[in-house]
Amino acid sequence: MSLLDSATNIRENAYAPYSNFKVGAAIRGANGQVYAGVNVENVAYPEGTCAEAGAIAAMVAAGETTLVEVAVIADSPSPVPPCGGCRQKLAEFGAPDTKVTLATVGGAVLHTTIGDLLPGQFDASHMASATGAR
Ligand code: THU
Repeated sequence: MSLLDSATNIRENAYAPYSNFKVGAAIRGANGQVYAGVNVENVAYPEGTCAEAGAIAAMVAAGETTLVEVAVIADSPSPVPPCGGCRQKLAEFGAPDTKVTLATVGGAVLHTTIGDLLPGQFDASHMASATGAR
């Protein structure tokens, strides 16, 4: 099964009663395992979490902290772009050249990378002069 197939399958489990916008995400860890996630909304709207965040949480909980590929799918008119926060979350565990596949339920696919999604990213080097930071 492809990574996009995993994202497509898990998307059905999204909990999105407020937006009615179900998103599925799947990431492949450096260990070869696939971790999937969905958006989980809340009646207190800001408490909702994105599909990408769910997949990352599953990977880290399993003991893997490097991702090597990403796929995200939603029923959108064009391939769903990860939100700004998720771009930063993906950058934390991936690399600028990590492949990201963005897709629609209708079959449109956009191939990109974490670096293209988040140019000029904030990283640990920017904290170099902060005492005690790492
Ligand atoms: N959403 C995601 O899960 N991932 C994205 O990449 C874009 C947005 C979710 C958050 C919210 O539950 C719904 O889509 C509408 O914004």
